[in-house]
Amino acid sequence: MVLIVHLHLPWVLLNFILLLILVVLCTLSDCYDPLDPNGNISITFDIYQRTQDGYLARVTLENYYQYRHVDKPGWQLGWQWANDEVIWSIKGAVATDQGNCSSYTSQLPHSCKKDPLIVDLPADVSPESRSEHCCNGGILSARAINPLSSFTLFELEVRNLGQYPLGQAPNNLTLLAPGPGYTCSPLLQTDPTVISSFNGQRQVPALRTWKSACTYSNFMANKSPICCVSLSTFYNPMITPCPDCSCGCSEADKASKSCIRLGNTISEENIIACTKHMCPIRVHWHVKNNYVTHWRVKLTISNYNYRSNYSNWNVLLQHPAFSQNTTSYSFNTAKLPLAFQDGVSLFWGIDYYNTELVHSDKDQQGFVSTEILLEKDPKSFTLSNGWAFPRRVYFNGENCEMPLPDTFPMLPNHTNTLRPPNIILLIISLFCFWTKASFHFQ
Ligand SMILES: *[C@@H]1O[C@H](CO)[C@@H](O)[C@H](O)[C@H]1NC(C)=O
Ligand SMILES: *[C@@H]1O[C@H](CO)[C@@H](O)[C@H](O)[C@H]1NC(C)=O
Ligand SMILES: *[C@@H]1O[C@H](CO)[C@@H](O)[C@H](O)[C@H]1NC(C)=O
Ligand SMILES: *[C@@H]1O[C@H](CO)[C@@H](O)[C@H](O)[C@H]1NC(C)=O
Ligand SMILES: *[C@@H]1O[C@H](CO)[C@@H](O)[C@H](O)[C@H]1NC(C)=O
Repeated sequence: MVLIVHLHLPWVLLNFILLLILVVLCTLSDCYDPLDPNGNISITFDIYQRTQDGYLARVTLENYYQYRHVDKPGWQLGWQWANDEVIWSIKGAVATDQGNCSSYTSQLPHSCKKDPLIVDLPADVSPESRSEHCCNGGILSARAINPLSSFTLFELEVRNLGQYPLGQAPNNLTLLAPGPGYTCSPLLQTDPTVISSFNGQRQVPALRTWKSACTYSNFMANKSPICCVSLSTFYNPMITPCPDCSCGCSEADKASKSCIRLGNTISEENIIACTKHMCPIRVHWHVKNNYVTHWRVKLTISNYNYRSNYSNWNVLLQHPAFSQNTTSYSFNTAKLPLAFQDGVSLFWGIDYYNTELVHSDKDQQGFVSTEILLEKDPKSFTLSNGWAFPRRVYFNGENCEMPLPDTFPMLPNHTNTLRPPNIILLIISLFCFWTKASFHFQ
């Protein structure tokens, strides 16, 4: 009995520790992003007018993620009506399915489905199908990059409310944006949204407002990583590659033919170049120059896909030097609007120049790159101990796999060989200055 207890206790402990580690990992790296703590896509359902047998509502989707956008083919919003409501008409979006409207004879509602699925309209849709601020093919920009196109709205006329004159909140909100990974909280009644009209001269509160927040989790998306980081420097010819199998293993995938070797023809499933890391995206950080007051990095983002482009890509980098002045020559850059997150910079493409990270083909690799000039803080700047490399890298909001610190390019052993010329030069110039100065004073 004692023996059994002794055998079991470590197991319980081990399980507990494992669980703890899982929870910590989940909160640290997945469910919660410390660099974007308020990120979510909020869904607001405002009822702003009653009609004879229903109501008019405005549904707003707002992307509060600083560096995660909703890409093609766009968002899909679904819910389950609490009763037998129907969508009589809609503007600024469409329901994908009309459902069974056989109980209506003269005029048919837009959708009679119990669980309608709503999608956005293309940007060039005719004016009568539009609503204010609508229609961009389901694409929502990341907040820090383009706040003006990070939200959209559509208008609904809802009928057949049954015994509830102001309706009941729909249940089971689902958001695909565009793939899975989002979990939406229930729609809860909140303070009514105040809608301004007449150029802001008149404020009208909504009759009723329900709100939900949808948050992304990589775990829910069940996605393998899409991105990895490689490093190089001017002082060491060694290049630190992405960790092997960062996003999959080419050996394992060779059998399933999901990667392509140069020279092979591209079939439908052959979409990613065969590499040791097997990531569709690689971010390369090259420490290029070391000046007196500044240092320079070349950042290159490569697309190993043979079919898909990344439109409106973005890269987030964490490095202490980003709390200093940063100049990026070929990308846009901004610090995140979070005062307490020092040393985090967001980079994205310049319109009509490199917002599209094109796919590779047999002739060339798809990539975008820029040089970044960073100011030196003499108190912290150093080339040793891997200080010059980024701490964390995200591509389109997805965490990139970093190489382990013990594989980082190292300063050459005889660091002194770099120093003496500088020191000698300094002594000589000081000596010259001193002799000149003393010459003048005499
Ligand atoms: C449509 O609904 C009616 C009742 O409203 C029902 O009789 C009919 O079977 C349904 N049709 C389909 C195809 O489900
Ligand atoms: C929808 O939500 C209700 C509770 O509001 C729940 O009982 C039901 O199982 C959900 N349905 C689906 C399909 O998730
Ligand atoms: C950044 O550079 C600008 C001019 O290029 C300068 O005015 C500003 O003081 C610098 N900021 C810091 C923190 O050095
Ligand atoms: C990728 O981008 C290039 C250049 O903009 C374009 O010609 C090509 O059609 C795009 N491919 C896809 C699959 O979108
Ligand atoms: C530095 O020296 C150590 C032994 O002193 C050696 O193992 C290592 O390979 C050297 N590294 C470089 C970059 O020369």
